[in-house]
Amino acid sequence: MCGIIGYVGIENSVPKLIDGLKALEYRGYDSAGIAVFTDGGITTVKAKGRIANIEELLKKSYSALSSSCGIGHTRWATHGEPSDINSHPHGTERLRLVHNGIIENYIVLKKELMDLGYTFESETDTEIASKLVDLNYKETSDCFAAVKKSLEKLQGSYALGIIFKDVPGKIFATRKDSPLIIAVSESGNFIASDIPAVLKYTNKYYQLEQGEIAIVEKDKVTVYGLDGQIIEKKLCVADWDIDAAEKGGWDHFMIKEINEEPDSIIKTIRPRVVNGLPNLQLEELSDEKLASFKNITMVACGTAMHAGLIGKTAIERLARIPVKVEIASEFRYKNPIITKDDLVIIISQSGETADTLAALRLAKERGAYTLAIVNVAGSSIAREADSTLYTWAGPEIAVASTKAYTVQISVMYLIAVKLALSVGKITEEEAKNHMRILLEHTPVACEQALLLNDECKRIADKYKDSHDLFFIGRGIDYDIAVEASLKLKEISYIHSEAYAAGELKHGTISLITTGTPVIAVCTEDELYDKMISNIKEVKARGAKVIMICKKGAKGADDVADDIFYIPELEDGLYMPIPAMTVLQLISYYTSVLLDLDVDKPRNLAKSVTVE
Ligand code: G6P
Repeated sequence: MCGIIGYVGIENSVPKLIDGLKALEYRGYDSAGIAVFTDGGITTVKAKGRIANIEELLKKSYSALSSSCGIGHTRWATHGEPSDINSHPHGTERLRLVHNGIIENYIVLKKELMDLGYTFESETDTEIASKLVDLNYKETSDCFAAVKKSLEKLQGSYALGIIFKDVPGKIFATRKDSPLIIAVSESGNFIASDIPAVLKYTNKYYQLEQGEIAIVEKDKVTVYGLDGQIIEKKLCVADWDIDAAEKGGWDHFMIKEINEEPDSIIKTIRPRVVNGLPNLQLEELSDEKLASFKNITMVACGTAMHAGLIGKTAIERLARIPVKVEIASEFRYKNPIITKDDLVIIISQSGETADTLAALRLAKERGAYTLAIVNVAGSSIAREADSTLYTWAGPEIAVASTKAYTVQISVMYLIAVKLALSVGKITEEEAKNHMRILLEHTPVACEQALLLNDECKRIADKYKDSHDLFFIGRGIDYDIAVEASLKLKEISYIHSEAYAAGELKHGTISLITTGTPVIAVCTEDELYDKMISNIKEVKARGAKVIMICKKGAKGADDVADDIFYIPELEDGLYMPIPAMTVLQLISYYTSVLLDLDVDKPRNLAKSVTVE
């Protein structure tokens, strides 16, 4: 989703802003722009489409553009279509502003500003915010006061970067419900919506909190709290390095990230296995407290929500505690039944998804204990939850989530085993065996699944021109199917649906005709024979069946057109790890072979910071 970058320092800001914009591309965007101080004024260059368009414009019309201070933005359209005019920065002759988020009261504000003589050229809520700041600046002749006064009127979510013509060399930044960091380096300071945008230059940053206003200068950062007093900020150091945020020889981030899965599992789980037993390393969450929860609710969006499905299966099977899985955007508006006896597990790669963050706040309001599973250190969800368990997958750049999902489900297993032990449903010996499988065997199974790379490519090539594709499974295989289907459709644009195999004949089977590909996930031993019956049903209607099963699965040859024998794990509960690696690879190659923008699929955003 939208991205913000800003730089003020001793070097030319233009290449730094472009680098920052490129590093933000992964969030998803449809236009971009920059505004920099130039002799006595501000020059703005913005355009619909890729950042390459800005570079082209810079080359053609602004080749001499050089400035030590500026702001930049990648826009993911919400109010008004992607266009040159709707692109940020917006502003007036006196200032330029970039914005992430949504100004909810923009209609009222627009009317008030129009009554005062302001006119608007774009359809954006951002232009309205910029003119509100302009009005307050005209009235106060003080940049800080203008920003502060504007915040009193703005409703909704925002991260703002503002430059004023009259004060070259200063960037004003503030935020509410949308992330923003202030990064510092020897040659200058940055504002950015996330860490990868500045990693090329620095890994040191300050986290801006709700309502704080920062004034960023080349050698100084001053942050004011809600009461207008200067506050001391804690300097954070990101342990992600630039290599982790770059492709490092791979064709795409997605394939790089799939290949990082075995390592990510080890990094995330190893520190949480002590003497062979699960240890969440959360002092505040004692065994007694864990054993006291009557109900568990998982709340998340997209792939993270699908990780919750695996979590539900694992916790219910091992600990016998009832678990609900809720889509965050539904949960927050349904007056959910949550009490203080409940554990609410919030899952989010970015830790900034607007609906998930709102769901977390609601769960806290209702008195539930909130446990966040988050990949980005210091993100809003990580900071607001009662406890946070980080997944240490490193930066995930491709929009389609892969390694983040794998570590999320690894953490789900860890929690399931810990809960089961706390409530006495399994013995220490059994828990140790689970940890052995999780920490030692699943990364190996994942490595072996990666060796099926070429076979995944072959299957992708065979089925890439399909119009529809179905995934079927039962039990945990259905949880896998749901995520596999999302992965395929988000990056290949092939219509796809996941069905509980037993439910097929209640509707979907009417869509199966000659040649329709059906990917059947069959790793559950107890449900295997049932799956074979369901496969026969679709075969009888002409489907082409691709089976994902364990080595030696009996009868597979008789029913399937193509078979993936995936590495077997001693407990079927863990099979989603190697199975998903294979399914992610199939999606990846389908997108590659269709010549699509794998890492940045159309219309999608990595971090969805608006509801
Ligand atoms: C977007 C991304 C998905 C992600 C979802 C939730 O839709 O494209 O990959 O699963 O948001 O994001 P989160 O950061 O909360 O896990």
